[in-house]
Amino acid sequence: MLRVDVIIGMQHGDEGKGKVTHYLLSKGPYTHCVRYNGGCNAGHTIYHEGQKFVTHHIPAGVFFGVKSIIGPGCVVDIHKFFDEVKMLRDAGVDILDKIYIAKNAHIILEHHRESDSEEIKLGTTRTGNGPCYGDKYTRNGRRAENFPILQPYIIDMYEEFYIRNPNAEVLCEGAQGAELDIDWGDYPYVTSSHCTVAGACLNGFPPTSVRSVIGVAKAYETYVGSKEFQPPDDVFSKLQEIGQEYGATTGRKRQCNWVNLSNLDRIVKMNGVTSLVFNKIDILEELGVWCMYVDRGSHNMFILQSRDQFCEYIRDYFDGVEVIFSGSPEKI
Ligand code: IMO
Ligand code: MG
Repeated sequence: MLRVDVIIGMQHGDEGKGKVTHYLLSKGPYTHCVRYNGGCNAGHTIYHEGQKFVTHHIPAGVFFGVKSIIGPGCVVDIHKFFDEVKMLRDAGVDILDKIYIAKNAHIILEHHRESDSEEIKLGTTRTGNGPCYGDKYTRNGRRAENFPILQPYIIDMYEEFYIRNPNAEVLCEGAQGAELDIDWGDYPYVTSSHCTVAGACLNGFPPTSVRSVIGVAKAYETYVGSKEFQPPDDVFSKLQEIGQEYGATTGRKRQCNWVNLSNLDRIVKMNGVTSLVFNKIDILEELGVWCMYVDRGSHNMFILQSRDQFCEYIRDYFDGVEVIFSGSPEKI
């Protein structure tokens, strides 16, 4: 029987999904790791055997010899894909027969990159993702299977999971976050793909195959893009500095705010989240301020006195969900 665990971002991306994927792969019984949405707009920072890696396309399974597939819900920049393959190979990661691209994933072309670079009003990553998905949905796109240079990497998801490996254990690595989802985010300040558990299922995994949904959040919030997100208070500049909140893909400063439990609760419910990881608790510890919002409008600010109080409040709030706090960039 096919079993699938899904990792989703709970906020606006950059929650530490790469780290959690890497950690679960180091522990778990997985045979496959599948990226299910987005493209090179993502930037996943991973520490493997003491070395720092930033991946954009290739799922973290590659670090453990687990078959790593860029799924059909993704869009692929061929140059960046090959740069990443080279980066991994040069670093000594054994990638032979480990990296695949679904034959029905779409390819980012030059004109996608060009038209995205004009897209300043949303503050996109200008990597051609939005225009590529646009062409996919207007039926003007081009799929991976049509590019001879990609032939050694092409895989058919149906054959892989329903003919060759019907007992596969799959870890799905999401990109971006539910608050950036094309349908459920703050449109138009969203990305162009489905960042929810349903987005993972769209890659050919039935809902009944999903065993657990791991939501990844930060103990505070960050956002990169053009809408105003960070309140005018110096404490957030300090938080930005301590947390080293710079985009892994574009190097832009990430705007910061306190964590919003009501927003998270909406994402927990709509995705059936079973475990919730809060990263970067060490950064709040260094800042020495423990704040959160408890309504959707971000008006009702709540101040806690200590790390213990902060964590206890969150644990109670998400009663029934396994809640984990992490203060290390390398493990959870
Ligand atoms: P990971 O996987 C944070 C943001 C962009 C912009 C909006 C639309 O590292 O969490 P796009 O280029 O997708 O059309 O831009 O989405 N964005 C991300 N922000 N982390 C990401 O990925 C992001 N991918 C896109 O900054 O506001
Ligand atoms: Mg990132």
